[in-house]
Order: sequence, then structure tokens, then C-alpha cells
Amino acid sequence: MTGTNGSNFRSHEDETAREYFHHSSAQRVNTDAVLVEALRGQYPNLDLTVVPQQNANLLAYASAGFATATPLEDSTKDPVYGAALKWRVFVPPARRLDNSAGVFAERILFGKFLYKWKDHEFILYVADGRDGGASYPDITNNYILTSETYKINDLIKEATLWGSRLHDEVWVFDQGFWQKSRELFDSVRKAQWEDVILEEGMKKAIIADVENFFDGQSTYQNLKVPWKRGIIYYGPPGNGKTISIKAMMHALYQRGQDGSDKLSVPTLYVRTLSSFGGPEYSLRNIFAKARQEAPCYLVFEDLDSIVSDNVRSYFLNEVDGLRSNDGILMVGSTNHLDRLDPGISKRPSRFDRKYYFPDPDYDQRVQYAQYWQQKLKDSDNIEFPDALCPAVARITDKFSFAYMQEAFVASLLAIAVGDSTSSSPRDRMRKSRAQNRWAGPDDPLKYSKLQLLSRVNLMSDGNSELDKVLLWKELRKQIAILREEMEEKRAKQLLGSMRSEFTQYRDELDEKLHRQDQKLPDRSRKFGMDYPPFRGLNSDQ
Ligand SMILES: Nc1ncnc2c1ncn2[C@@H]1O[C@H](COP(=O)(O)OP(=O)(O)OP(=O)(O)O)[C@@H](O)[C@H]1O
Ligand SMILES: [Mg+2]
Repeated sequence: MTGTNGSNFRSHEDETAREYFHHSSAQRVNTDAVLVEALRGQYPNLDLTVVPQQNANLLAYASAGFATATPLEDSTKDPVYGAALKWRVFVPPARRLDNSAGVFAERILFGKFLYKWKDHEFILYVADGRDGGASYPDITNNYILTSETYKINDLIKEATLWGSRLHDEVWVFDQGFWQKSRELFDSVRKAQWEDVILEEGMKKAIIADVENFFDGQSTYQNLKVPWKRGIIYYGPPGNGKTISIKAMMHALYQRGQDGSDKLSVPTLYVRTLSSFGGPEYSLRNIFAKARQEAPCYLVFEDLDSIVSDNVRSYFLNEVDGLRSNDGILMVGSTNHLDRLDPGISKRPSRFDRKYYFPDPDYDQRVQYAQYWQQKLKDSDNIEFPDALCPAVARITDKFSFAYMQEAFVASLLAIAVGDSTSSSPRDRMRKSRAQNRWAGPDDPLKYSKLQLLSRVNLMSDGNSELDKVLLWKELRKQIAILREEMEEKRAKQLLGSMRSEFTQYRDELDEKLHRQDQKLPDRSRKFGMDYPPFRGLNSDQ
């Protein structure tokens, strides 16, 4: 490589260049082969089995408590090669808010262990064998040496199965691949059916639908129909579609934990189809995993945005194609049932069950206020009399649960920072104007809100006892602000839909005109004559 190139051409004899080229042009390397050769030479009486770590991570399996891996390091006897080759890193807390101190972690690049599993002992080498300059794939292998080779298969099988199972995690599909999410699992663990307020009959039906499905494999088989279903939760934002899905996930994980023979059912949670391989690639991956994990609960949040027009036929292929989807229960949530293709929402064994989650009625709003009363019962500085619940329900007509939640949270926050009592709305308006003197043009809406607040303050619903309750005072203000915000939003939406209807109408009219124009008799076009029915529509003529 270096020096002359075989002809009479002479190199410049640049030392650095020679070193560089010499270093970079080795024989083909294969670290795996090098290690196998060395291990067979060193342990002629033991059998060697090589297991890629991405299939079975024996060290992780041991640190989960299923085996022990004792490092066989002897840096005193052999200061160069006696110690393992490893990286030490500090892993900061995943979220600053967690208040955790972070942890130190080690990554083994080359190490030797005595591995004990179920009364068997093996020698285990773990080595990072990445060859070449590419960072992917990352090849780390386990090299297992033993005289009891027949036991190795059991170890590989158990460690692999352990690695493929979830451990307080949920499978989430995002950016093109399945990932285990601990965060979603933690939030699911907090979701309880008791906290979800729904019309009693509907709540029972929702739960029964899912439980009966997973209990009903034999019923489906006897009826000779495929054991698969789809359910849609639809309705305006903020009324419990997502918390119902989470409460259901929680209940499904709990199945069988009381010793009954019910199968625990995992959830596969799809966030988006967008990926480096396109939505078709994502759908293939999603359904392959669902078939593997079945029986399972397959969740599509915002179904209408996931199954857009361009992936619809592919989606339907996966749902009712040739491969069996037995044991898969799909649930999709959407705000816009009308945007879903009828092929998806109306055909049996696709999404044939639908539940509407409306804004809460008066009784449900009272229940929701009672839920907050219960939540706050131990808090000394918040007075929450029973009469407050119907009073809140009375002034929150057309509010979603999420808006009601916002009213409670905002009021409690205002009370916590002492904002509510410190000054009157008029004072705050003055203060805010003074603060914003240099902040550019004022937002007129802000002042209308503040004026509204002062009006609310003057209002009383005639319940003089309640009028003294700080939380009630604050709730009335927050609810007034939220209502105004809601109405603004509704007005904008209405305007938007009127605009789109108008555009559609105009397009239809254009099309009609165009078609009529095509039908004009040749002579009339030639002489530029107006076609009678549309006289005057072309103003520039
Ligand atoms: N039926 C309900 N019972 C009790 N709390 C509710 C209910 N619905 C909504 N909430 C409260 O509102 C929050 C938002 O609700 P959720 O996320 O379930 O709404 P959603 O219907 O999924 O809305 P979107 O259509 O915007 O996704 C919940 O975390 C919960 O605190
Ligand atoms: Mg939701």
C-alpha cells in the first residue's frame, strides 16, 4: 500500500501519510472470529457457545436477580489484561423534576465472569466486537464456556424471553419502532375507573365489552368468527376518552393477579405512524407486534389523524388481510367521527362498537365537584362546603371535564399564591397596565376579561354563606374567564366551518359553470355570446 505502486512511481515518502495508510489498510477484520479462535485455544476442554447480546442480555438478566455474574478480574497478577475494559458514565436524572441524584453506570466492552444460573456454572466472556467505522449495528456477544452444553439452550431461552417481556412498562409505537415506556406505565398505574365519571350504564358497557372479549375466545371459536374487535371512543375534547383507555389498560394488567386464571393483557399504544420507513412500514410493524403479543389491547389515539386517506387501504389490509389477528382488540379515540372513512367506522369486525363521550350534564358536574371535594378533604386551608358542588355545576353548563378541571386547578393555584385576596380586579387591571407600559400594543381581550372579572365579583347567586367561601369566589372568576375563552374558540370554529362551506359552495358553482361552458354550442362560443342562464355572472364581460 505504501511506497511505490508497482510501477516506477515513487511516493513522496511522507512519514505521516505512510503511517496513516498503513494503519487504515488492514486485512479484513472479524473480531468474533479472533475471539473464538483465542477461546478455543485457551479452553480446549470446554465447549464454546456464542450468543449475541441483543437477543439475550445475560448481564442484564443477572442484574435482575435471575443469575449471578461475578467478575473474574485479577489486575494484581496481570496489570495490563487482568482488568476488564469498561466505560464508566454518569447518567443524570431523566427529568430535573424527579429530584433524583442520577446514577453511575458501567458499560462492559470486554470482561470475564463466573456466571451461575440454577446450580450451573459457566465461564462467560462479554466482548464488544464492532468492526469497521460504522456505529451500527452494535455487536456485543456473550461467549459461554462450559462442559454442560446441553444446559445452555435453557439459559438462552429464559434470558431471551425475559428480555422480550415488559417489566412495569408499556409498549409504545413512536417514530417507527416499538419502545418500552416506563413513564406511560406509571401514569396508567394511577388511572382508576372509580375516578372516571360516566353515565353508569355506559361505563359498565365499556368495561364489559373489553373484559368479555378477552374472556370469550371459546365463544368466538364456537361461533366460527375471528376473535378480533374494534371499538371507537369519540366526542368533544376533554371528556374522558384517554383516561378511560388508561383505566382499562390498568384493569387489564391487573387481570389474573388475584390468582384467577384470567390472562393478563398487555397494551400496545400507537402514538403516530410517522417513521423513517413511511406509514406503511409502521403499520406492518405495529400489526406484526400485535399478532406476536396477542391477546392484547391495541390503542390508536386520534384514530382520524393516524388513518389518513393515504394509508387507509394499507390499514384495512392489515386489519382484515390474510394473516390472523386473533386476540387483538383495537380501540381508537377521535374527536371527529365524521372524518373517519365509513369503511373503517361502519364495517363489522373493524371498529363496529362506538361510544360517545359528551360534555358532562348537571349531575355529572356535581359529581366532578364532589370528586374535588374528596381530593381536598385533608387540606386545612381550603374550605369546601357541600353547597359548593351544585353551585359549581350550575355555572358550568357546556363545560367539558377538562375545562372544569382547569377551573379547579387555576382557582387553587390563585389561592395558593395569595393572588385572589391581595387586590381587587380593578387594582390588578391598573397594576397590569402599569407593568405593560413598555410591552407593546395592549391586547384588548385582556381588558375585556378583567372587566368581566369585576362584573363577576359584583354578582352573587344569593347564597350569602357561599359568597364568603374563598374557593367559590375564585372559582366564579376562573369559570367566567374560561367561558369567555370557550365562546371565543367556538366562534372561531364556527367561522372556520362557515368559510369552508362557502369555499365548497363556490367550488361547486365554479364547476357547474365550467361544465355549462363546455356545453355551449360552438357558434355561441365562437361569437362570444353569453349563454342565457348565466348572463351577468361574468362581471368583466
Ligand atoms: N369523564 C371524566 N371523569 C373524570 N375526569 C375526567 C373525565 N373526562 C375528563 N376528565 C379530566 O380531564 C382530563 C382530560 O381528559 P381526557 O384526556 O381523557 O380527554 P379526552 O376525551 O381524551 O380528550 P381529547 O379528545 O382532547 O384527547 C383528564 O385527565 C381528567 O382529569
Ligand atoms: Mg385523548
